[in-house]
Amino acid sequence: MTGEPVNVNEFRELARQALPKMYYDFYTGGAEDQCTLKENEEAFRRIIIQPRILRNVRCIDLSTTVLGYNISMPVMIAPTSLQKLANPEGEIATARAASACNTIMVLSTSSTYSLEEVAACCDAIRFFQLYVYKRRDISAKLVQRAENNGYKAIVLTVDSPRLGRREADVKNKLVVPPLKNLEGLLPTKFVSDEKGSGLAALASGTLDASFCWEDITWLKSITNLPILIKGVLTREDAIKALEVGVDGMIVSNHGGRQLDYSPATISVLEEVVDAVGGKVPVLVDGGIRRGTDIFKALALGAQAVLVGRAVVYGLAAKGEKGVNRVLEMLKEELELTMALSDCCSVKEISRSHVRTKHDQQL
Ligand code: FNR
Repeated sequence: MTGEPVNVNEFRELARQALPKMYYDFYTGGAEDQCTLKENEEAFRRIIIQPRILRNVRCIDLSTTVLGYNISMPVMIAPTSLQKLANPEGEIATARAASACNTIMVLSTSSTYSLEEVAACCDAIRFFQLYVYKRRDISAKLVQRAENNGYKAIVLTVDSPRLGRREADVKNKLVVPPLKNLEGLLPTKFVSDEKGSGLAALASGTLDASFCWEDITWLKSITNLPILIKGVLTREDAIKALEVGVDGMIVSNHGGRQLDYSPATISVLEEVVDAVGGKVPVLVDGGIRRGTDIFKALALGAQAVLVGRAVVYGLAAKGEKGVNRVLEMLKEELELTMALSDCCSVKEISRSHVRTKHDQQL
C-alpha cells in the first residue's frame, strides 16, 4: 500500500505489516470457524440506506450524549485487552486519542497499563469494563479502584463465563503480558502459560462461570456507578436486564471471539431496541469499519456504537496518531453519509433511512 491510509481496512493492512504474526492473529481473530466474526461485517453490507433529498445539509451536528456525557460523535472506544502488544504506549495512547476526539473510552480489565495510569494520563471520559472473577473480592476491588479514579460507569461483560476457542491463539501459544490491573491479585502462573493460549489458561483459571442475573444485585450493592451490560443478543435477555435494573446495554458478541454462530450484532439490534422501549440506552459493537455502518446502527435504534479492532489497527499502525486518525476517519465518513442522506443531526437518523431483510423485499 502506498500513501496514507484512507480507510479502516487500509489501517488493518498497516497493522498486519507492523505486528508479529502472533499479535496480529490475536487482534484480528475470532472463535472457531469465525462465522460470527465474518457475519458481523457481512450483515452490515446487506442493509441498504434509503437517502432523502433536497434538505439543507450545510451544517451537520454529530454530537450526542451517552449516560449524560456529551461526546463529539456517536462512536466510543470498545474495551480491548493487551494494547501494549500493538504499541508500547498501549492504552495510554488510546485514552489520549479518545480525549482529543472528545469521546468515551472503555478500558478493559485486561489492560496492560493500570486503570490508575490511564486515569492519570489525560482527561478522557472513561468507563471501566469488568470481568467477574471466582475471587469476587478481586472484582470488588477493581470496581472500587475504578470509582476512586474517576471512571464514570461499569461495563459488565456477560458473554464470557469461559473464553471462546480462538484457534490462532492456541496454535501461536499466545503469551500474555502482565495485566497491570491484576498485579498482586492473581497468581502469575496463569499469566505465562506456554502450552496453548495464555489467555485461555488465564480465563479458565480465574473467571467466575457461576455469575448470573441475581449477582447483578451484588454488583449494584458495591458501586454507585451506572452499570451497562455488554453481550446482550436477544429480546429475552434485554427484558431480563431491565428487570434487574441495569442502566444501559451493549448489543455485542465480543467481536465474534466468544460463541461462534451467534448472530451478527446488527441483525439483532432492532429486536433488543424494541424490547428496551427507550427505558435505557442501547449501544452496539461488532464489525463497524465505516461511517455507513454507524449510520445503519443509529437508524436501527442504537444510541452510539463502539469500535474495537478499528482502534487497535490505528494503534498498531501509528500509535496515538493512528487511533486519532481512525476516529477522525469514522467521523468524517459518518458526516458525509448523513449529508448524503439529508440528516443534519444524529437525532434525525431514523428507521426509515434503512431497509433490512425484515422490510419489504428489494
Ligand atoms: C476484545 N473485546 C473485549 N471485550 C471485553 O469486554 N473485554 C476485553 O478485554 C476485550 N478484549 C478484546 C481484545 C481484542 C483484541 C478484541 C478484538 C476484542 C471485544 C470488544 O470489546 C468488542 O466487543 C469487539 O471488538 C467489537 O467488534 P469489532 O469492532 O472489533 O469488530
